[in-house]
Amino acid sequence: MWGGRFSARPADIMQAINVSIGVDRRLWAQDLAGSRAHCRMLAAQGIVTQADAEAILAGLDAIDAEMREGSFPFREQFEDIHMNVEARLSELIGEPSGRLHTARSRNDQVATDFRLWVRDACDAAAGQLQGLQRALLARAEQHAADLMPGFTHLQPAQPVTFGHHLMAYVEMFGRDASRFADARARMNENPLGAAALAGSPFPIDRHMTAAELGFDRPMGNSLDAVSDRDFALESLAAASICAGHLSRLAEEIVVWMTPQFGFVSLPDDLTTGSSIMPQKRNPDAAELVRAKTGRIMGSLVALSTVMKGLPLAYSKDMQEDKPPVFEAFDALTLALGAMTAMVAALQPDTERMRAAAGSGFSTATDLADWLVRELNLPFRKAHHVTGAAVKRAEALGVDLSQLPLAELQSLEAGVTEAVYKVLTPEASCASRQSFGGTAPEQVRARIAEWKSRLP
Ligand code: ARG
Repeated sequence: MWGGRFSARPADIMQAINVSIGVDRRLWAQDLAGSRAHCRMLAAQGIVTQADAEAILAGLDAIDAEMREGSFPFREQFEDIHMNVEARLSELIGEPSGRLHTARSRNDQVATDFRLWVRDACDAAAGQLQGLQRALLARAEQHAADLMPGFTHLQPAQPVTFGHHLMAYVEMFGRDASRFADARARMNENPLGAAALAGSPFPIDRHMTAAELGFDRPMGNSLDAVSDRDFALESLAAASICAGHLSRLAEEIVVWMTPQFGFVSLPDDLTTGSSIMPQKRNPDAAELVRAKTGRIMGSLVALSTVMKGLPLAYSKDMQEDKPPVFEAFDALTLALGAMTAMVAALQPDTERMRAAAGSGFSTATDLADWLVRELNLPFRKAHHVTGAAVKRAEALGVDLSQLPLAELQSLEAGVTEAVYKVLTPEASCASRQSFGGTAPEQVRARIAEWKSRLP
């Protein structure tokens, strides 16, 4: 492509470090879309003749067909996707192919292709997230009133409903989806026409190519257009936060599936066995969702590190933008798919979860609240009295709800029989009617809200 200036072919090591076709071949559809838009614009502006434009568009269609059939000859000697397509175009249509690159550089070409790819990836992730939210909503509806222990420090804290716990993730994944949508909105500007870095002396119409490629407008500065990859970083940040959420739910599934917890199980087709221990049923899918987070977060660090300190405008460093983004979105796609399947198939042991919900003195806060409400104790005093009651119950080997009234009265004289009504996990959950609380009515209200929001 630059034979005019050069008299020697690249050394093998030059080619080896430079070649990117193995990675950026994934941009073929975006590259063809960008070239078609550019070609139509060149013809509309009288920069190439109608006849040349038609020959180029026919050639691009032929390449499209070869790509779809799998017969396109990807060749390392042509370095990247852009030059592979151009070289093939030249073989197919001859001389007019050389006019396509008028008023364009690989710098704005790759910035455009990559934006289009990342935009689709963000849309796909947001779509998958909504699928996961729908799966969670269905399960939350089934278990809106089924009790489980709520934890802090992974110690029993207060009873919650399983539906409430699942709905916490619906909220998180909703924010994740909106982060992808925000990233998409910000990235949806057209770099094409920035050319190498300074813009073009040809009378190009960047608004036309923007409209054709579904961008909201052309980017406003040609240097910025070819040299930033913040759109990719932002999408990786969104992916990393989302992966963090997936990893937490995955971790909970792993913990809940231990025989010690025994809260949930997964069917055979979503678990694996052991080649030596016949009794095993392992939550490999959940573990791998947890582990994919490493790749995804690592990709954000990798690309941030590539970009920091690069002078404007393009440097070849930026060719290293694609592997981390492809790797992160491949991992995220798998993780979202696996998590959606696990959520849909989770088999909760509601009896066991109910029993655990009442253990560990989980209604101690309810006792303290009762002392405040009914006997007008200051909360700190009520906290102290309740702590003493827990200590006593522990010594007697009983739950708070089984502690004799006389015991309670010895700690606080005014306690009456009525206190026992608040000491069950059911009553504890039912009383938490504050907006966003775990009372089944509140959980159902939130489910209804999310159902109306999701497409
Ligand atoms: N393969 C290159 C990349 O992905 C395309 C841009 C090359 N531009 C250049 N001036 N060498 O970054």
